[in-house]
Order: sequence, then C-alpha cells, then structure tokens
Amino acid sequence: MELAYNLVLIVHFIGLASVVGGFLVQMRSAEKGVNPAMWHGALTQLVTGVILVGLAEMQDWDVDHAKIGVKLALTVVITVLAFIGRKKPLPQTAFWGIIGGASIVNIIIAVLW
Ligand code: HEM
Repeated sequence: MELAYNLVLIVHFIGLASVVGGFLVQMRSAEKGVNPAMWHGALTQLVTGVILVGLAEMQDWDVDHAKIGVKLALTVVITVLAFIGRKKPLPQTAFWGIIGGASIVNIIIAVLW
C-alpha cells in the first residue's frame, strides 16, 4: 500500500510539473492561454490528490483536513477555470494567470503548512 501511495505521489509531482510548466513556458508569450499541459496537469492534481488522501486514510495515517480542504478548494477552482478557459479565444491572460498563481500557492501550502 505504501508503494501505491508513493507511485501516486510521483504522478502528483508530474501533474504539478505539467500545470506549472505549462504556465511558466508562456511567461513571455504575447497570447497567453490555457494550454493542454495546464488543463491535463490540473486534472491530474485533482485526481491524484484525492487518491493520495484515500490511500492515507485507509492506512490510518494522519491527514491534515484543513490543509487538504484548502488545497482541494483551490484545485477545484484551478480545474474549473482550466476547463472553461481552454475553449475561449486567445488571449486568455486572466485564466492563465489565476491558474498559474493558484497552483504556486498550492505548492507553498503543501510545503509550508
Ligand atoms: C495544483 C494543485 C496541487 C499542487 C500544486 C500540489 C502540490 C503538492 C506538493 C508540492 C506536494 C509535496 C509536499 C511534500 O511532500 O512536502 C503534495 C503532496 C500532497 N498533496 Fe498535493 N498538490 C495539489 C493538489 C492536491 C489536492 C487537490 C489534494 C487532495 C485533495 C492533494 C493532496 C496531497 C497529499 C495527500 C500529499 C502528500 C503529502 C505527504 O505525503 O506529506 N494535493 N502536493
């Protein structure tokens, strides 16, 4: 079970790289938008995050519910914005900025809380 948890955590890091990488790569672009890396990364974070919590609960590991609640709420916003934003005509600067900024806030929460 611990191996399963660690494997899902690795996918969680790949999702993080995808959403933040998709954001950063457009930093100097004139037409910023929600690219597939950001959309798929957001979805990956939502799914792998929920699975991680489930696997931790199954093993009676301590889960900080307040921290997870804030991360989950932010990730739902990120995913909904990515879903809506990717269909809009370019530039989608506000969608791009909020998704990238909120993802970085989620990293800060994950590490510092
Ligand atoms: C954009 C969204 C997200 C980002 C950028 C993100 C980022 C991170 C990072 C950097 C870590 C590693 C922290 C560490 O090991 O110190 C982590 C771990 C974790 N995340 Fe997320 N996360 C996101 C969404 C979520 C969501 C939605 C959930 C749950 C509903 C979640 C649950 C977890 C759990 C359970 C861990 C493992 C913590 C541990 O083993 O100590 N994450 N996340």
